[in-house]
Amino acid sequence: MEAFVADLLSRMTREEKLGQLQQVQGTNGHVADHLADAVRRGAVGSIINEVDPATIRSLQWIARHESRLGIPLLIGRDVIHGFHTVFPIPLGQAATWNPQAVEQAARLAAEEATAVGINWTFAPMLDVGRDARWGRVAEGYGEDPYLIGEMGAAAVRGFQTDDPTRPDALAACAKHFMGYGASEAGKDYNSTNIPPHELRNVHLPPFRAAVDAGVLTVMTSFSDVDGIPATANATLLRDILRDDLGFDGLVVSDWDAVPQLTTHGLTADDREAALAAAQAGVDMEMASRTYAHHLPALLAEGLVDDATIDAMVRHILRVKVRLGLFDRPLVDPAAVPPSGAPATLAAARDVARDSLVLLRNAHALLPLDLTSLRSVALVGALADDPWEQLGTWIFDGRTDHAVTVREALAARLGDAVTLRYERGHTHPRARDREGHAAAVAAAAAADVAVLVLGEDAILSGEAHCRADVSLPGDQRALIADVVATGTPVVVVIMAGRALALEGALDGVAAVLYAWHPGVMGGAAIVDVLCGDASPSGRLPVSLPRVTGQVPLYYAHKRTGKPATPETIVHESTITGRVPQLSVGNTSFHLDVHPTPLFPFGYGLSYTRFAYEQLRVSHHTLRRGESLTVAVDLLNTGDRAGTEVVQLYLNDPVASLTRPVRELRRFARVALAPGARQTVTFTLTESDLAFSNRHHRRTAEAGVFHLWVGGDATAELHASFTLVD
Ligand code: BGC
Repeated sequence: MEAFVADLLSRMTREEKLGQLQQVQGTNGHVADHLADAVRRGAVGSIINEVDPATIRSLQWIARHESRLGIPLLIGRDVIHGFHTVFPIPLGQAATWNPQAVEQAARLAAEEATAVGINWTFAPMLDVGRDARWGRVAEGYGEDPYLIGEMGAAAVRGFQTDDPTRPDALAACAKHFMGYGASEAGKDYNSTNIPPHELRNVHLPPFRAAVDAGVLTVMTSFSDVDGIPATANATLLRDILRDDLGFDGLVVSDWDAVPQLTTHGLTADDREAALAAAQAGVDMEMASRTYAHHLPALLAEGLVDDATIDAMVRHILRVKVRLGLFDRPLVDPAAVPPSGAPATLAAARDVARDSLVLLRNAHALLPLDLTSLRSVALVGALADDPWEQLGTWIFDGRTDHAVTVREALAARLGDAVTLRYERGHTHPRARDREGHAAAVAAAAAADVAVLVLGEDAILSGEAHCRADVSLPGDQRALIADVVATGTPVVVVIMAGRALALEGALDGVAAVLYAWHPGVMGGAAIVDVLCGDASPSGRLPVSLPRVTGQVPLYYAHKRTGKPATPETIVHESTITGRVPQLSVGNTSFHLDVHPTPLFPFGYGLSYTRFAYEQLRVSHHTLRRGESLTVAVDLLNTGDRAGTEVVQLYLNDPVASLTRPVRELRRFARVALAPGARQTVTFTLTESDLAFSNRHHRRTAEAGVFHLWVGGDATAELHASFTLVD
């Protein structure tokens, strides 16, 4: 391959080389003359946002058969959680804790997208989502670097397969390199200030996992990272990505991120911006044209050298070769299968079902007892909106096959049970209360009320951030009004983020967190409500009590003054004038309990699980050797169910302060009622390693603690010592 690329490079003119660096927008379902000319001249390396198969075929034909060197085009599109068939948002996919599900969702999306000629997606997003205000948490895999890495690697495998030359393989793009999730105040595009060790220990690991999985491309972040925007940040793009991770594929800027270097105030104009991005290691420019306009002069003046350009082109050509684009059959517009294949819809339903997190189930209200139920009240605009349940980033998503909760419930309940539906509000953000009375009346007359509430799609995704992540509109009042009827209440939450729900769920018997579940979301939710499946999703993010707690994540540092249950004081308990020191000196807020409302990793099922006999194979671990951790898992309930067994580690004394615990392994285990299974995990030195003060990944000798259980508060504990 390298010889092929070198040969091609040796035959390219400077203009053709610069052409490879440019990604341009498609012209919407036809090939505009200027675009055809540019492709023919070799002035375009990639097209973004063209989805019409006949147009893609024509463009690819011109590139391959009418340009001098016949270099194929990368055809890019944001295929984020499905193409035509929309799967749960990535945050929901993370809640499955099931990498196979994520891989399958990506595979099916790739099949649909490549069928129209797309060969490059801008996913997975691997940014660490610890601030629920940030709208893009919907597009990522939650708060934990390890979980994100596992899910991200699965998505890469699904998109690309282990043979990316296959005509149905889609190049993945790990984005956004790096630190975008730390946007201050959870406001999109805002500055990020990330200590260098945190950059490497928190934000980098998901990218390492994606590179190890063979991701073909990487996208820069829009953000200013400690004063140097990522798109001009050679430390990120050269030292870390190329040298430390060994990535040799293509780095693309984010949309217009190169000229935005000037908006950031790093460069004076487009010319300087092009120079800064090229020097930092951005190979291809998305959308804007500063490279095309300024690199010729910068080369002529000697400010950029040919070797730099050659390296950029080499990265791009490598990806085209790895994707087999020089030989890939051109797409046949007549052969594009209709969307909505039953197997794809069935997979979307399975993934959605696995993504549902049962947070509360008082008196075992769920699953609904269909033998005794006579009437159900269903409330909420989201219960019957085929579009909103798809969530953010659905450029090509279709609602034709969407199944809403209302439709699925009506079908499942049949004629024997009366189903009365009331919207309750015009949309979840509405502050109209006109619909409350009818919803209350419906609930009062029913055996059970199911409220489908939360956020509509517009409230999450890129540039869709919220300063207050509680339930929008008047939904809290709607819940209270319905609860007041005395009818048992189930709340299903659809949302693109972790909502702050303290107080909102008072009196609610059962709560099911459904994220934006995609096209088959309604069917999946009804599967769980009616007991056709036991819920098995687990939270990929801590759910805050109130917005003021965010960023909130379980893997925080210990601090010098950690709060304990004994040191916490609530302001409501403080009487009159009390001395300053009477509330103690530990790390907590006076107006909210310091824990999340529901912890990371949490989720119930319709059965119960017990953990017994945690054991480690050795009490000392030598470098280069491995250690086995085993635990017995028991299904102590009377239904089959799936538990997500989680292993957390802590390095209590280290040369850099370390998180109180960090997820290091997990496994989904399905157990029949009464069954017992031993679950084992193997740990090695590299699982104990972190990037130290000198930015070297190393495991430091000493004691390590580990916990195994069903969420981040797991109490079953063991320890061992790493010895030199
Ligand atoms: C987003 C990227 C996306 C690109 C192309 C940008 O605004 O940040 O994640 O891939 O647009 O649509």
